[in-house]
Amino acid sequence: MNSDIKEILYSQEQIQRVCQELGAKLTNDYQDKKPLVICVLKGAVMFMADIVRKIDTYIELDFMDVSSYGNEMESSGSVKIIKDLDVSVKGRDVLIVEDIIDTGRTLACLASLLKHRQAKSVKICTLLDKPDRREKTISPDYVGFQVPNEFVVGYGLDYQGFYRNLPYVGILKPAVYEKN
Ligand code: XMP
Ligand code: MG
Repeated sequence: MNSDIKEILYSQEQIQRVCQELGAKLTNDYQDKKPLVICVLKGAVMFMADIVRKIDTYIELDFMDVSSYGNEMESSGSVKIIKDLDVSVKGRDVLIVEDIIDTGRTLACLASLLKHRQAKSVKICTLLDKPDRREKTISPDYVGFQVPNEFVVGYGLDYQGFYRNLPYVGILKPAVYEKN
């Protein structure tokens, strides 16, 4: 285990099990809908790669990079689009794949943008949900795990760009960010 990690919250095996379960639900819910599945870069990359391989129906993938004008530990109100989608969402069933929903500001902004662009439906699939800190009334449609109010990293989630490559989700030792 990486020495900056206080505790492993979800192991590789637990994550794979959840991807399997959510993938089965998504396969059923999106049968014949040919949804556009959107990965929010960069945090959701691992989850996206794992979950789409468990969806057994026609889906199209696209990627979006947004920055939320916050510091590295939390987001602010509005999002800036760093990389936009390549395809139009107009009339499409859209599924946003996210790593974590914290205050909900990022996804509230993104979901309303996609609705404004006339997506037929916009649903959210997040690996992690941290409901304690919610400020926006946004409830994800598909959730992997509910996490306690701790700063977590790994499996795509970062602190100052690092730890994304850890195969598990773990709690970062506060000493790591307190010294900065
Ligand atoms: P909001 O607050 O808009 O923010 O829902 C979601 C974004 O905030 C970041 N975030 C975290 N990143 N560990 C992380 O690595 C965490 O515990 C954490 N909490 C929030 C993340 O960028 C996410 O997309
Ligand atoms: Mg993110």
